[in-house]
Amino acid sequence: MFADKDISKFNNIETPFYYYDTDLLQKTLQTCADAAAPYQFHIHYALKANFNPVVLKQIKEIGFGADCVSAGEVKRAVEVGFDNKKIVFAGVGKSDKEINEALDLDIFCFNVESIQELAVLNELAAKKGKTAQVAIRINPNVDAHTHHNITTGLDENKFGINSWDLTECTDALKASENLKFIGIHFHIGSQITNLDVYKNLCVRVNEFAAWFEDKGFKLQVLNVGGGLGIDYHNPDHQIPDFGSYFKIFNEFLTIKPGQEVHFELGRALVGQSASLITRVLYIKNGKKKNFVVLDAGMTELMRPALYQAYHKIENLSQSGVRPESEVVKYDIVGPICESTDCFGKEVEQPESFRGDIFAIRSAGAYGEVMASKYNLRDAIRSVYSYEI
Ligand code: LLP
Repeated sequence: MFADKDISKFNNIETPFYYYDTDLLQKTLQTCADAAAPYQFHIHYALKANFNPVVLKQIKEIGFGADCVSAGEVKRAVEVGFDNKKIVFAGVGKSDKEINEALDLDIFCFNVESIQELAVLNELAAKKGKTAQVAIRINPNVDAHTHHNITTGLDENKFGINSWDLTECTDALKASENLKFIGIHFHIGSQITNLDVYKNLCVRVNEFAAWFEDKGFKLQVLNVGGGLGIDYHNPDHQIPDFGSYFKIFNEFLTIKPGQEVHFELGRALVGQSASLITRVLYIKNGKKKNFVVLDAGMTELMRPALYQAYHKIENLSQSGVRPESEVVKYDIVGPICESTDCFGKEVEQPESFRGDIFAIRSAGAYGEVMASKYNLRDAIRSVYSYEI
């Protein structure tokens, strides 16, 4: 729930905008850092979830590294002040230009996703007279039991090197003079709420680690990716259970002395700390449906249109005004010329009026970063809790 002071302040701000609760972000980051500390786990924040510079500065200050998937993200991380030696660069399609830029910035590690990429990276590093540190991303074929569009670790997914190609991969590594192999990397999917999935991942990581060690490779890094989910239905249960999450890895992962365990969390760190704040433009009461037409749409928050993702929707102007039993069912839609531009169907809300302020909750991850200019919309703005 938003505090009343927020709602009255929102009234005077032009909508739509992303509202960042920087105190909540701080609390979430600190809770995560405290939960990881006893195990000396390393966190690299996945910039793809949100690369807003204000958010990034807070994350950098807590001491986390950066997990990037483009040279743009690598450069953003450096600009914001992340230590180059705490930046990893993943991605199934790194271009030569991007690899060169990352080599120039002497980042910590490239998470390599194909044998061909190993050869290209080796060649580009050689041209610069550099040695690039690499981790091999392995596709472990572990089902993340999440939405099929955000599952990444199954045989049918494009990510990582398949287990049957690993011998060819180690041969290539041995022959690559400008690469230093430091570890193995996994990421099985996003918005994972069933933590048992991570036990299965640990079993697979242990098997792969043993395979590499049998072949005489020393693994400095075990990178288990990210994916920890948040509670979209109860955004007020704000901070994910980092303690239980890390405990699983401590219990089920075989960690050798001197080995570092790396995590790449995105959504769990930033998801709950922002809401999309938007105003009702029109109410349309039809024969079959009642519509609330908002001034934000799929161009500002694409997840519902793209994945039928659920985000809790609250009419802040009317909440607590009438008894909770007096509700109307609305399809809550945006202004974009697409039928999928809908934040929720048959959503129970208090009777709503033109000018009411709505909050679309849990929008801190994969929200602002996935905004588009479709319909030549204005760029979405951000407002921070410390400003108002
Ligand atoms: N590491 C790798 C290699 C990844 O591909 C991802 C996310 C992460 C880390 C961070 O995952 P997280 O902790 O945030 O779950 N746009 C989708 C999510 C796509 C996730 C892509 N990869 C959504 O809105 O649900």
